[in-house]
Amino acid sequence: MHHFLKETDFSLEQAQEVFTLAKELKANRLNGPRALNQQSWGLLFYKSSTRTRISFEVGVNELGGYPVVLNSQTTQIGRGETIEDTARVMSRYLHGLVIRTYGHEIVEAFAEHASMPIVNGLTDFNHPCQLYADIFTLLERYSPEAMDIASLRGKKVAFLGDTACNMANSWIHTAAMFGMDITLAGPDGFAPSATIDAALKADGLPKNYRITQDAEEACQGADVLYTDVWVSMGNEAEAEERKRRMAPYQITTELLALANPNAYFMHCLPAHAGEEVSQAVLDSPQSIIFDEAENRLHAQKAILAKLVELNR
Ligand code: CP
Ligand code: NVA
Repeated sequence: MHHFLKETDFSLEQAQEVFTLAKELKANRLNGPRALNQQSWGLLFYKSSTRTRISFEVGVNELGGYPVVLNSQTTQIGRGETIEDTARVMSRYLHGLVIRTYGHEIVEAFAEHASMPIVNGLTDFNHPCQLYADIFTLLERYSPEAMDIASLRGKKVAFLGDTACNMANSWIHTAAMFGMDITLAGPDGFAPSATIDAALKADGLPKNYRITQDAEEACQGADVLYTDVWVSMGNEAEAEERKRRMAPYQITTELLALANPNAYFMHCLPAHAGEEVSQAVLDSPQSIIFDEAENRLHAQKAILAKLVELNR
């Protein structure tokens, strides 16, 4: 069974096909291929969501499938039914399952015991669907006709703020996969963990990301400035300390001015204006945050269609 738990679960060639298909699906949103033809897909949430929930629910519907939205607390998972049994039972009803949860081992356990494709809709470790939408959004600008992933090579990404979070890990993995250059800037004590280094090694990818505590150094000459919330879901108890320690890494117009003149500001959203990014940057012409959000729909439809094709 082919799952999508991390960015590299598609080869470069398959990823290229996903982006090409996403472009077609975007251009022809309601009359595209009905790749899920009467399949029922579960969308299981252990955490809050706006974009992931809506884009998958709408996307499954537009592909001719039926979305079943589930919450861990209101299923028997919340009362202790094992993942092993849950995955087996759900596989008897559903044709695929998108999961947003805490520990990455939860999606891995579902993938081990399910007999349907599992899609990672965010874990504490990574957020690969977001990254495919982000890369698609950049390809619309760097290579609008061919959507050629080669156009990403050498592009400089600066990731500021919580450099140990799921989005930072996903950007490290994605940059290595597509040959992008990435520098992360955040406070001491928030360096990426050994888990992401092990994930790169397992994929035979180079560990060539840079980490600094100097926000200006990271932004100098960057093509993409990226940030994420300072308090991810599950980190609420550390909120005040995180906000204090990460304050020097707010993306401001001054930092944006250090980047390439045609650099883009990106954020997976939700954003907290005045924390990780200023309102002026969110509103600037260089900000492409709402295209990113929209592209969750098109990129994820292409991911689902690709999984159906690969698992045929
Ligand atoms: N970016 C993202 O995954 O948003 P949601 O938490 O709203 O799904
Ligand atoms: N790092 C954030 C991403 C939200 C889409 C979180 O995990 O809460």
